[in-house]
Amino acid sequence: MDLQIKDKVAVVTGASKGIGLAIADAFGREGAHVVAGSRSITPELEALHEKYGVTAVPVDLSTADGPGTLVRLAVDQYGRVEILVNNLGAATSRPSFLDIDEAEWQRIFNMTLFSAVRASRAALPHLLDADGGAIINISSINARMPFPAVVDYSAAKAGLSSLSKSLSEEFAPRGVRVNAIAPGPVRTPFWTAPGAFADATAAQAGTTAQEAMDVVVPKSMGISTRRITEAHEVAALTLFLASPLAGNITGAEFTIDGGQIKTL
Ligand SMILES: NC(=O)c1ccc[n+]([C@@H]2O[C@H](COP(=O)([O-])OP(=O)(O)OC[C@H]3O[C@@H](n4cnc5c(N)ncnc54)[C@H](OP(=O)(O)O)[C@@H]3O)[C@@H](O)[C@H]2O)c1
Repeated sequence: MDLQIKDKVAVVTGASKGIGLAIADAFGREGAHVVAGSRSITPELEALHEKYGVTAVPVDLSTADGPGTLVRLAVDQYGRVEILVNNLGAATSRPSFLDIDEAEWQRIFNMTLFSAVRASRAALPHLLDADGGAIINISSINARMPFPAVVDYSAAKAGLSSLSKSLSEEFAPRGVRVNAIAPGPVRTPFWTAPGAFADATAAQAGTTAQEAMDVVVPKSMGISTRRITEAHEVAALTLFLASPLAGNITGAEFTIDGGQIKTL
């Protein structure tokens, strides 16, 4: 299937690993011009530069200026932006709501919500100039299934899902589509980095981190397919939503969680 993404300019936030890296890879493979931002440039992201000419931009996207800088670099390089993927987000496991201080709330909201607000504000004038612009926000099932252990992240993701809907309403008549993707657990460093959620689950369950990801998490979270999602699966959905083939899809949120959410 030709997704008609070739030669489109796509900005991807948080792209050095995990879902963002898989999205940059998928857009690169389709022949898009990808401008990818993260603090570090990993060997995997460098490899995408070699393979597909992906532009890797070292930038702190949690700052007030970071997202605008990334978008500006894309415009400087290509003269246009047609697709924005707001992928950046961060969570830390909390013993209690009472343990989260002001600075931590601010950090999680900067990464998870305000980076998307700022990137959208910078990109929208260019998306409006495009012949069919698209924003895809990587939200989370925690937006509508909040967990106390990630109370701040859940609240920020609810804000991101809400932002998607509001922007879709305002800008659909002017040719820009805005959609969200809500993944359940996805196999990325978010879970698998040392000391992250896989290690914590393994310690609780008395298993290895690998077993925690392959068996404990799917079972304890009620994932019907009995497996967590892979990053390339989120990337495939992102590609489709960015494609003109999804030209009448806007203001929608797509869950990709192996059936974890049981309600309609
Ligand atoms: N994995 C999951 O289970 C899951 C589930 C639902 C939703 N999500 C959402 O999916 C998105 C991607 O998650 P992921 O699992 O791929 O995360 P990840 O593996 O932790 O990767 C995060 C990416 O963001 C970059 N990043 C972190 N802080 C940054 C900053 N200040 N400025 C610029 N870049 C920064 C990281 O690169 P550097 O460290 O080099 O900056 C990395 O490329 C997030 O919004 C997350 O909330 C993930």
